[in-house]
This record gives sequence, structure tokens and C-alpha cells, in this order.
Amino acid sequence: MANVCVITGGGSGMGLETARYIDKEVILVLTGRTVSKLEHAKEILEAEGHQVHLIACDVSQRKDVHEVAVLAASLGTIKTVIHAAGLSPTMADPEQIILVNAVGTKNVNMEFYKYMNDGGVIVDIASSSAYEAPGILVKHQIYEEAEYKEEAFIKHMTGEAKMAGNDYNKAGMAYVMSKNFVVWYAQKCAHEYAKKGIRVVSVSPGLIETDMGNREVEQSDFAKQMIEKTCAGRMGKAQELGYAIATIADERNGYLCGIDVLIDGGASTGKKFKKVKG
Ligand SMILES: NC(=O)c1ccc[n+]([C@@H]2O[C@H](COP(=O)([O-])OP(=O)(O)OC[C@H]3O[C@@H](n4cnc5c(N)ncnc54)[C@H](OP(=O)(O)O)[C@@H]3O)[C@@H](O)[C@H]2O)c1
Repeated sequence: MANVCVITGGGSGMGLETARYIDKEVILVLTGRTVSKLEHAKEILEAEGHQVHLIACDVSQRKDVHEVAVLAASLGTIKTVIHAAGLSPTMADPEQIILVNAVGTKNVNMEFYKYMNDGGVIVDIASSSAYEAPGILVKHQIYEEAEYKEEAFIKHMTGEAKMAGNDYNKAGMAYVMSKNFVVWYAQKCAHEYAKKGIRVVSVSPGLIETDMGNREVEQSDFAKQMIEKTCAGRMGKAQELGYAIATIADERNGYLCGIDVLIDGGASTGKKFKKVKG
């Protein structure tokens, strides 16, 4: 039976770049909301020798995610799930951000867990913003609600985000909190899913040159400052993250689980050290 790799948000950015580094023997299933984007990605990947299937899905809808899992399982053994679908602060309101980034991650992990077995890996894409979450707002008892009290979870997470001043700050806080949840949830799942031999890990990119990353840099001074704090003084390239994510997902990385991998070009440590001019 063939191995299958599912990539949410596979139509663009880091999802698409990760697909390029997946072994060509593996069947790729790309998903996202916009079919034209998925078709374009399929063309690129098939020209490079990949086998690609497409299915439209909104990850915030559990039944959509279920359909993706059913399709993927019908094609072979689901070995890899790269969950890259997400919305940034300039793209949506706080509730949509919580729904897609946080509830979406819960939907993806829970649905695919049912169809995956020993040797499987789920890589949830979080964000370096997860580390900006104010300690006072990080309440794991709210995070615990995601699986069993979804409505309360959305209400509480959105309520926390809405305390953050103007509209941009509210969406920004929703993003930060949603990604803090992703890091926490991936760790929780890693410890639970290990009983089936499934590895779960999250990856937190810094600012990366994708449609989303470029849009944030255009519209936010905080994003521009983050670039200055990196070692190389630049954004990450989508290809660099694609390579890193595919490597993290590789089964030879079997001990990498239950933890977040921060790939931010040194932006977070840049606060501690003065830049030495060359
Ligand atoms: N770029 C950065 O600087 C940066 C930094 C840290 C973290 N991240 C995270 O990295 C991940 C990938 O983002 P990217 O930078 O590669 O940006 P991107 O190119 O905009 O990719 C995001 C993808 O998610 C899909 N998507 C959005 N909402 C969805 C939904 N409800 N259901 C299914 N798919 C959905 C989008 O396709 P449709 O619109 O067609 O659905 C798109 O293909 C995201 O989770 C993002 O939060 C990005």
C-alpha cells in the first residue's frame, strides 16, 4: 500500500513548499478552501514528478476534515499530516482566527488520529507569536475545553482576545492565543497519541516570505522590528521552512516529538544581543 501525506494549506506558502520536499513515492493530498489555488499547486508538483490529489476543505469544519481523512485513507496509509492552514491578524476577525487556527488544529489532529497508526507523524504549524502570549491570558483550563466544549472554548478564547484594544490588536491577540494553543495542543496530543506510535510536533516559524508573511510586514511595525532582530536581518524563505518541516516529518527524526521547534532566524534571541556591524 502506498504512503500518503496530507497537507492542509497545501495550495500556497509553506504548505506547498513542504510538499516539494516529500518523497515522490508518497501520494500527496492537498487541501484548503480555494480550489484554483490547489489546482495551481497540483500543476507545479506534478511537473516535478509528484502524485497529487486535491480536496477542498475548511479546517474549522469537522465534517470537512473528516472527508479529507476518508479520502486520504482510501488512497493508502496516512503516514504524514502537515497542518499548515491558518489565518493571520490582517486576514480575519478574532472569532474566525480562533476557529481556523485553534479549532482547525483540534479538528485535524482528532480526525487524523483515527486513521493513523504506528510510524505516523502530525506536524502542526504554530508561530513564533505563540511565545508572545501574555502569561495572564494563557489558561490551560480553557484550552482543555477545545475537544469537548467547543462553543465555550471559542467564546472564552475570543473573549480574551477582545480585551486587547483596537481591532488590529484584537485580531493580533486572537492570533497569538490561537498559536499558543497550537503549541500546547500538539504537546498534549504527542503524549496521548504515542500509545498508537504516532509522533506529534509543532513548528513555530518567525516571519516568512509567503503571501501571509508579506502582508503582515506591510501592515505591522511589530513585524518589521522582528526582521531587524533576526541574525541575518531578513525574513525566512518559504523554501527554507518547507525543507525544515519536511525534515522534521521524516521518520528518521523519530525522537522529535512533544515539543515545539522554533524557526525564527534568531528573532527571539535578538532581543538579548546587540547586532555587530560587519
Ligand atoms: N508567513 C509567516 O510569516 C508565518 C509566520 C508564522 C506562522 N505562520 C503560519 O504558517 C502557516 C502557513 O502560512 P503561510 O505563511 O504559508 O501562508 P499562506 O500561503 O497564506 O498559507 C495558508 C494556507 O492556509 C489555507 N487556509 C486558510 N484558511 C483555511 C481554512 N479555514 N481551511 C483550510 N485551509 C485554509 C489557505 O488557503 P485558502 O485561503 O484557499 O483556504 C492557504 O493556502 C499558517 O498556519 C500561518 O499561521 C506563518
